[in-house]
Amino acid sequence: MLTLGSAKIVDRGPIIACDDKDHQGTIVFRLLPEDTLMTEAVVAQNAPYATEVEAGKSYFWCACGKSSQQPFCDGSHQDTDILPQKFTAEASKTVYFCGCKKTQKAPTCDGSHNRDSA
Ligand code: FES
Repeated sequence: MLTLGSAKIVDRGPIIACDDKDHQGTIVFRLLPEDTLMTEAVVAQNAPYATEVEAGKSYFWCACGKSSQQPFCDGSHQDTDILPQKFTAEASKTVYFCGCKKTQKAPTCDGSHNRDSA
């Protein structure tokens, strides 16, 4: 993340192609005022998501809590300062993905939802 004055340059999301010939070959970043970005995750649910994963397959855990496809990312983080976290399954098994988004062992549950601050 880069900052410019009180604004942040969001270096992710869709790259906007610009038709202006002076801008060809450049990448246009979205520039958002800092106070418009959500920087703290919201609780998706106060319990882990028990999810079957397949060995060798990669998943993107939603870290912002806004996805409607919990526990996985659906792109809803675009107006936040938060990025999803890639998880590659080493074995086919049940994984308990964090639902409260406060785990210290992302993307899996560490019991944070049971603590008073969760
Ligand atoms: S929707 Fe939450 S991290 Fe992508």
